[in-house]
Amino acid sequence: MQRHRIDVIAGDGIGTEVMPVAVACVEAAGARHGFDIDWRHRDWGSEHYRQTGSMMPPDGLDELATGDAILLGAVGAPDIPDHVTLWGLLIPIRRTFDQYVNLRPVRMLPGVTSPLRGLDALDMVIVRENVEGEYSEIGGRFNRGLPDETAVQESVFTRRGVSRVATYAAELASRRSGRLVSATKSNGIIHTMPFWDEVVADVAATHGVRVESVLVDALAARLVLDPRSVDVLVASNLLGDILSDLASAVAGSLGMAPSGNINPGREHPSMFEPVHGSAPDIAGQGIANPVGQIWAASMMLEHLGEQAAADDVMAAVASALAEGARTRDVGGTCGTAEMGDAVVARLRS
Ligand code: NAI
Ligand code: MG
Repeated sequence: MQRHRIDVIAGDGIGTEVMPVAVACVEAAGARHGFDIDWRHRDWGSEHYRQTGSMMPPDGLDELATGDAILLGAVGAPDIPDHVTLWGLLIPIRRTFDQYVNLRPVRMLPGVTSPLRGLDALDMVIVRENVEGEYSEIGGRFNRGLPDETAVQESVFTRRGVSRVATYAAELASRRSGRLVSATKSNGIIHTMPFWDEVVADVAATHGVRVESVLVDALAARLVLDPRSVDVLVASNLLGDILSDLASAVAGSLGMAPSGNINPGREHPSMFEPVHGSAPDIAGQGIANPVGQIWAASMMLEHLGEQAAADDVMAAVASALAEGARTRDVGGTCGTAEMGDAVVARLRS
């Protein structure tokens, strides 16, 4: 029997509520398709930070390196600054394991309505650069607390970094519509963004893909006014982060959106997580939508080569939603566990 070794970091807030649902779905899919999971549960996150001063143990990354993939819930707590939680866990994992693609499919699932009038179908993929760009540690704060205090934050764009994420996006676009939209801000950001545009255009040309470079402000409006005009979207770390929350809200709910932090060369484990955070406003109530976490687990199965199981998980989600099992954020009455049971029951039948 095929075995996969999966590290589970449920994390904080609703991460701890939606994770057991995703684990149950993967277990049910494994029973059906003949594979076993060796789950390694890690109690890392904000509570670990309160007790030890760090989000994960010093050898945490070495431990993860021996696994096949990582399934993450969410991290973040109101009493700890967000840059501490993010840079203490998520960003080191993404960078150490060179997970340079953040893949975010945006699809409307059955029975879910968009906040946009008249939109009844959407199928887009966002490819976000995940390890460089605007998220850098280079910079500093000077004259702290003084009237002329100044903060400087540098962006880092490399030819290698931009071309490899553009290559991933162009290959994806050539398997889909042949069209690629690239988010830019080359009118205001005069060094890195024209460079991004040039490299993306070169890569697209060598893949026979038509690229449309769109200023990010206009693109934000277009994602609301005409989201179906975008098929594959490639964007830098910051722009991709913002646009993917927008697109997932357009598709129905932030609670449904999945993402994969992919190391395409498979030298290291990849990590799969919902797009949403720890949602302290609803944590502890058992009402979080588990679909984003389940969908992330399905992407993980696909990455592990379990395509049929991955498809079955999504079919079970679609069937449960279509037959009325829905959480409150998408107009239903189900709690997290009840929604999970509806999906798991379909995987067992
Ligand atoms: P959030 O995604 O946690 O919540 C935004 C809104 O969406 C809230 O009103 C929340 O109730 C709702 N929501 C999110 N997921 C939902 C679900 N599954 N079902 C139903 N409703 C859902 O974003 P927010 O509030 O900006 O951040 C909260 C914390 O999460 C912060 O500490 C932040 O740093 C962290 N965060 C962590 C991420 C990660 O671990 N990858 C990603 C985004 C935020
Ligand atoms: Mg985000």
